[in-house]
Amino acid sequence: MSNFSEAELLHTFKGIPFTTRSSPELLKSLDTFDAREDDVLLVSYPKSGTHWLAGVITKLYATQVTVTSPIEFGDISRLEELNKLSSKRIIPTHLDYNMLPPNFKNKKCKMIYISRNPKDTAVSMYHYYRDNPNLPTVDTWAAFFELFLKGNVVCGSWFDHFISWAEHEDEKNILFLFYEDMKKDLPKVVKEITLFLSLNITDNDIQDICKKSSFSEMKNDTEKENSDPSHTVCALTSNRKLIFRKGAVGDWKNYFTPKQNTRFQEMFNEKMKLSKM
Ligand code: A3P
Repeated sequence: MSNFSEAELLHTFKGIPFTTRSSPELLKSLDTFDAREDDVLLVSYPKSGTHWLAGVITKLYATQVTVTSPIEFGDISRLEELNKLSSKRIIPTHLDYNMLPPNFKNKKCKMIYISRNPKDTAVSMYHYYRDNPNLPTVDTWAAFFELFLKGNVVCGSWFDHFISWAEHEDEKNILFLFYEDMKKDLPKVVKEITLFLSLNITDNDIQDICKKSSFSEMKNDTEKENSDPSHTVCALTSNRKLIFRKGAVGDWKNYFTPKQNTRFQEMFNEKMKLSKM
């Protein structure tokens, strides 16, 4: 529940709702961002498993890497801050493909796009809206469902976001992952990530990393002294407890009415009919 009005929390840039934590000046200047060839981008629509993926990836590197907050969060000084980082940068972003700084594309930086059943994403986002004072207040699931379907939520329409990236599925520098595959067989997905990032990791190490990246381990870590409680990939909260909610596949069934499910499915079929994925 937020004490701020919607206008204080959200603004629109190029037709997409952003939180006011992303300043218009920063969004306008993203095109000038100087990417490095070894930057790795973690791309997602919010609530698709970004923190999970970031948790896995940082454990794969033996050398010092920095997972930044999303490139689009902050004010104009943000680009300078990122420029100053001397270590390898793992940069999360919720930007759609068209808004991504062109330098990442020109330099063929490696990008990992993680997506999730949009129905589960919607439910996860509903809880995030409810529990996070930095997002507008939503009273009911029914009200949030309408906002989500219209793309009237932070980062805009799930469908548009997914399609903008899926159009590039044949590009060798982009790896597409699914949350559900990570739930089903995390070691297999992690192996795929190591091959994509050209990292030499033994199967034993992969098993170990997967254990440490389970939902319960990651959730517990947030309560341990040695984890930094104020560090979340999502700059919309420093409360890590808001990130690790349920971590399940299919929670949407506890929220969607049959009518909502039909409407969602119709929209999905219509929007996705052009996508091979
Ligand atoms: P739920 O709200 O459905 O529980 P993001 O990091 O993109 O904000 O996504 C958050 C979602 O990923 C939350 O979903 C969260 O519980 C889930 N998640 C985070 N870590 C996870 C893990 N280790 N295993 C499974 N799901 C995880």
